[in-house]
Amino acid sequence: MSANNRVPRQLAAPEPTWFVDTDVVILGSGAAGLSAALALRPVRDVVLVTKDILAAGSTNWAQGGLAAVLDPNDSIELHVQDTLEAGAGLCDESAVRELVSEAPTAIRYLMELGAAFDAGDSSGEIALTREGGHSHNRIVHAGGDQSGAEVQRTLDESVRLAGVQVVERAFGLDVVTGKTANGTRAVAGVRVAMLDSNGGVESVGIVTARAVIIATGGYGQVYASTSNPPAVTGDGIALALRAGVEANDLEFIQFHPTVLWSGPEATGQQALISEAVRGEGAILLDAAGQRVMAGVHPQEDLAPRDVVASAISRRMSEAPAGVDDHVYLDARKIEKFEDRFPSITASCLSAGIDPQHELIPVAPAAHYVCGGVKATLDGATSLQGLYVVGEAACTGVHGANRLASNSLTEGVVAGTRVGRELSWKLPEEVSTVDDDVEGALIDSYHRAALRSAMSRYVGVLRTPDGLTAAARILNTLGANASADVVPTRKAFEATNMLTVAIAVVEAAHTRQESRGCHRRTDFAEPRTDWMRHLSCRIVDGRMEVSA
Ligand code: SIN
Repeated sequence: MSANNRVPRQLAAPEPTWFVDTDVVILGSGAAGLSAALALRPVRDVVLVTKDILAAGSTNWAQGGLAAVLDPNDSIELHVQDTLEAGAGLCDESAVRELVSEAPTAIRYLMELGAAFDAGDSSGEIALTREGGHSHNRIVHAGGDQSGAEVQRTLDESVRLAGVQVVERAFGLDVVTGKTANGTRAVAGVRVAMLDSNGGVESVGIVTARAVIIATGGYGQVYASTSNPPAVTGDGIALALRAGVEANDLEFIQFHPTVLWSGPEATGQQALISEAVRGEGAILLDAAGQRVMAGVHPQEDLAPRDVVASAISRRMSEAPAGVDDHVYLDARKIEKFEDRFPSITASCLSAGIDPQHELIPVAPAAHYVCGGVKATLDGATSLQGLYVVGEAACTGVHGANRLASNSLTEGVVAGTRVGRELSWKLPEEVSTVDDDVEGALIDSYHRAALRSAMSRYVGVLRTPDGLTAAARILNTLGANASADVVPTRKAFEATNMLTVAIAVVEAAHTRQESRGCHRRTDFAEPRTDWMRHLSCRIVDGRMEVSA
């Protein structure tokens, strides 16, 4: 679309002053990164690098839970079919089958590690609830709506007990590459900036390793309104793109239908109102009191997430009763709401809403990246020595729209698989090759303009003019990239956000159809000839998209 699309080829940072060698470096400390560390630790030296504290990523915030077939009346086949149906034709069925088949073992594994999932009323069996797109109750949860926090706590403790070397406040900048004995380009390690408590750079070093695992999550923060915490800025995906690795399906950004609407000017992380609330019987109403989902889909309020988010956006655009920026969730019939959803209750109460007796104002917000760096479920990418797991990866499991609560499950399954693979065998050793690529950064104050352009033009419903406007704004921001910008955590993040945002806009413009969570106003339906993936890749400093 654009004649420009230039992105920095490396993040600018001071020269390295220290060097460390290990077997495997992991970037990121959510479910996927911690599971990988735990599986590797008995056999390999592992350094886990995280730019903040361990629990700063999305895992800790997940409410709904983990999807797995645990009820004898449910079946792997049904979970597979629900995942494929939600994925709108772009899932890789064999990856889905592998994930779904290993999901029950992953739940039992977490329980072995000490995870306390909620039990049902009488039998002591794990309680299972339902979320959008599931044909059966199969969502395991903890603390009512604090499932991710329990997974994070369990894995944090296990990783520390296992003696994994954890380095907090350390930013993975770019991979260092080299050549194998037969001349193949491969990863030799990663350049890391140590940060002070204000996000300034204290020092830069190189961790050499036989494998680098990216587990840095998605990029919800490129939007003005998101359920993701501030740390989720697309760092690993941007790093992989700069390393020349392709990322697929980046246009498929899942908007959660219901975050707590807290006013027209609200920006940043918004409180999630879990889909499990609808799973327990809540319904969506517009400001005129009409049902939003009646007649839209056979599963009504429990339709797949893309369907619900798009129905809400359309209803808001009609401005019923003059309200065009939110709808309402009626959860008043859920008995003992506070016991089942304690953290949602707390968020609502702090906004002055009593969810047991009042309607909850809600709106869609950026939630999950269905695409990512092209990888197998074992994390392998096209670059030897580079592995990607969790939300940062595109394994074909989610297709054009992820099925609810498949993500934490994927993080644990894929993280454990890559750890096991690298325990068995490390990639060949690589000798580093000096590169003369000049780094650049954009200033962190550009983040506001970037987020506002993405939310305004690349949200739930996309128009060609809007995508063109977004590209123009991003390219203008990119023209400010320079080697002279002061390197800080926020500048690294801003540059990574720009890189992924440019890729998203290019892919969204190229895909001339509506499918899953990519909805175009000018091509309102899926098109058979678009039943394929789009790949983004940086070539000579420019983002390119190919089908
Ligand atoms: C939710 O609780 O609604 C979010 C769960 C998910 O994103 O899978």
